[in-house]
Amino acid sequence: MTGLINKKVLLGISGGIAAYKTAYLARLLVKAGAEVRVVMTEGAKAFIQPLTFQALTGHPVHDALLDEEAEAGMGHIELARWADLVFIAPASADLMARLAVGMANDLMTTLCLATSAPVHLAPAMNQGMWQHPATQRNCVLLQELGYHLLPPAEGEQACGDLGPGRMPEPEELFSRIEGLFQTKQDLPAQGLKITITAGPTQEPLDPVRYLSNHSSGKMGYALAAAAAELGAQVTLISGPVDLPTPPGVQRQKITTTQELLTACQNVQADTDIFIACAAVVDYRVEEVAGHKIKKQQDQKELVLKLVENPDVLATIANSQPRPFCVGFAAETQKVEDYARQKLERKNLDAIVANDVSDTNIGFGSDDNRVTLLYRQARTIHRLELPQASKQQLSQQLLLEICKLYQANQDKQ
Ligand code: C5P
Repeated sequence: MTGLINKKVLLGISGGIAAYKTAYLARLLVKAGAEVRVVMTEGAKAFIQPLTFQALTGHPVHDALLDEEAEAGMGHIELARWADLVFIAPASADLMARLAVGMANDLMTTLCLATSAPVHLAPAMNQGMWQHPATQRNCVLLQELGYHLLPPAEGEQACGDLGPGRMPEPEELFSRIEGLFQTKQDLPAQGLKITITAGPTQEPLDPVRYLSNHSSGKMGYALAAAAAELGAQVTLISGPVDLPTPPGVQRQKITTTQELLTACQNVQADTDIFIACAAVVDYRVEEVAGHKIKKQQDQKELVLKLVENPDVLATIANSQPRPFCVGFAAETQKVEDYARQKLERKNLDAIVANDVSDTNIGFGSDDNRVTLLYRQARTIHRLELPQASKQQLSQQLLLEICKLYQANQDKQ
């Protein structure tokens, strides 16, 4: 049976002759049980009628960003939230360029910015346009931004040229989409819901300044990517960082510690494993200034009164329904001692001890080396994971955490 039943596929169509093939793709998706909604650019409508897609999917085509009627029904943000997958075929050179610079000047580009679903593009264009350095540069930019690109096929083109730029046939696109939804029963994290906090929090002092730290978010994002690859349903709650959302991960953006806590509490009941990797700012100013704090003449000191922020991890670990809780302890001295104390004090199941005084690992670096401390039968055990890239280390950590979670479940 197909894994596409009730999957919500937002099919995007931009201007290109290959748009006619997308009609058949829509038909295949609907036949396989997917819910399909279609978004067309103005260019797309020059090649194929929206009515064709309305007839094939049973839903009107969405094509306008600023349309009162559309916003009253399913507006652009609802559509962005609705989708499990955004699949754009054909993706024209123009659309790719607009997405690469983050424009939001029509419904399609706005949706792509707003959605947390994976966005896949099937570029299709004249071979000269495809091979132009501008398009090739846009491909690199798009991949850096987390878009997935399907390389176009080579062959005879509608314009008579020969070369790369043809959109793959609808059957091929369909099996791609089917593959994206395939459940991998034997993956270690299959069926698990994992929530991960990542990056720094920021606490405003006034409208232009804030308190924060150097967390790059790399470790948390690598963990989220690894968890999704291992089959988990992943929610990544992230402070401001400059990283793309890993494929298959639902990302929620937060800024302050209080926002982080609220976002975590909102998903707590729906979380099996909670991994707190965020570098949380522990204090905030008692009162955020309404206007920029001005330096007074000859002022030598500025006193800010800070008040304690909630401990997000400890709050989750001490409230019901309690997920399996894993913390991170980034320390510069007595790393394991402090980590053990945090494991006890915050009531955790496991903690990842991390020496951030070593500049080859930790904050901002691509590598890490950690020790996993965990409770079993009332004693604390330790497992050292040698230095590796944050990606490799995340996979190993996730595998260990999943094993501990299962052992814990079996005991109950
Ligand atoms: O900052 P600290 O060393 O106490 O962090 C230990 C763990 O607690 C980390 O996993 C961090 O994400 C989490 N934490 C939190 N809320 C705080 C402080 C830390 O969730 N206010």
